Amino acid sequence: MSILVFYSEFDSFEQWSTLLAPHLPGVTLCRAEEVQNDDEVHFALVWKPPHGFFAPYRNLKLLINLGAGVDSLVGRDDLPDIPIVRLSDPHMARMMASFVLFAVLRYVRDIPAFERAQRERRWHYLHPRSPETVRVGVLGLGELGAHTALELARQGLDVRGWSRSQKNIDGITCSSGIDALDAFLAGSDILVVMLPLTPQTQGLLSAERLARLPHGCAFINVSRGAIVDQVALTQALQRGQIAEATLDVFDREPLPPEDALWGMENVLITPHLASVAIPASAAPQVAANIQRAARGEAVLHQVFPQQGY
Ligand code: GLV
Repeated sequence: MSILVFYSEFDSFEQWSTLLAPHLPGVTLCRAEEVQNDDEVHFALVWKPPHGFFAPYRNLKLLINLGAGVDSLVGRDDLPDIPIVRLSDPHMARMMASFVLFAVLRYVRDIPAFERAQRERRWHYLHPRSPETVRVGVLGLGELGAHTALELARQGLDVRGWSRSQKNIDGITCSSGIDALDAFLAGSDILVVMLPLTPQTQGLLSAERLARLPHGCAFINVSRGAIVDQVALTQALQRGQIAEATLDVFDREPLPPEDALWGMENVLITPHLASVAIPASAAPQVAANIQRAARGEAVLHQVFPQQGY
């Protein structure tokens, strides 16, 4: 008898268990509070479980992070010493790319200016720019970043990408390493932050680095708030050094009601949903990893806590 324990405040247990059950005969899916025998819990499918969550489950074999970003998991001091895997789902990458496309094209096509003009009943003609003249910098070229960069390039935009180690992606001008970061930022009319949050990327976009961005640029963050100095970002937006921002993530979530960002008309705020775990497309991969772990085989999409991703 094997139990798969589930924990998430955001994802539906019913949906996940309906989709997983047919793939996992012999495995019972339970919410944490329904587990009767802790020793039968061999697998955990979790998003941000409370501290101490894993302690009762002494026979855990596999921990599956119910999302792409593992920063909230790998930094914990209560992790069991077992393989940890994350979701790596092309549909999640597509969902992310669609959000970033929306946010980038909204700026490329000057939509915020038209939204403001409409509120004033003002006919405000701005001649459309051609996409090749707009430099979009994608900061982070992992699975989600690389897919998004390609989708942006398909729009004819001048897409550049930066990552810690050098990547080569057709049609994208790639640069890498901390020494190349300032030049990359200086060449981004629209910056899209898609890095994982690790000890190396925490606070990477400091006030000094934000100041390297071209005056009047647009800033989009769909990864993690802690990569950016949020106070410096807010000030840059107030000064107009950064003209516009689309922010899906924040250093504190939910963003507190008193935060200045809420009241800024050059900021679009969304509540951390640019991309989410999609049960229908991710369930087969979750089930496959559970079957592999049950057979003692190597799992896919493993995360290495000391590396941070
Ligand atoms: C969402 O932020 C995720 O990491 O899946």
